[in-house]
Amino acid sequence: MADKEDLTRFGVAFPTPLIEQFDSYIEEQGYKNRSEAFRDLVRKTLLEPSALHSEQDVAGTIVMVYDHHISDLPIRLMELQHEAHHDIISNMHVHLNHDQCLEVIAVRGNLGRLRHLHQQIQVQKGVLYAELSVTYVDELNKMASHHSPHNHDHSQNQQSHYNPHHSPDSSTD
Ligand code: NI
Repeated sequence: MADKEDLTRFGVAFPTPLIEQFDSYIEEQGYKNRSEAFRDLVRKTLLEPSALHSEQDVAGTIVMVYDHHISDLPIRLMELQHEAHHDIISNMHVHLNHDQCLEVIAVRGNLGRLRHLHQQIQVQKGVLYAELSVTYVDELNKMASHHSPHNHDHSQNQQSHYNPHHSPDSSTD
């Protein structure tokens, strides 16, 4: 580096088990010292969210794990998805075990609305994990894909209304 950046030094206190985990993680990642690893983590935290503005169109996924025994939770989650149906392309439901469901929702739309949807999912009681992961969608490519004639079958991408836990006509579990 030709120009030395101004460096500010500060002390950080970590619980010993946490810094041990961190050290083995950064070693696996190839870092030679904690400082560079820590700087990269801070950059990642600070830069990624601000690189995407609420008004941008993005595409990505919401991944969530929840307990379907929590009363009304599957219905509430379905209602939230119906309210956001314009931004949802598809979803996949996996019954992880007796209690837990994994759901992957493919989304495409306004980032602000998708963040709002993710937050509404995240705060529901019984939702153990919910993460929104998105990337920027190029406007020109988006226009091209929407306006070019294409003949491939989109029927596999239709969002299903079938709720595996609250199907009105299901008599068995
Ligand atoms: Ni399930």
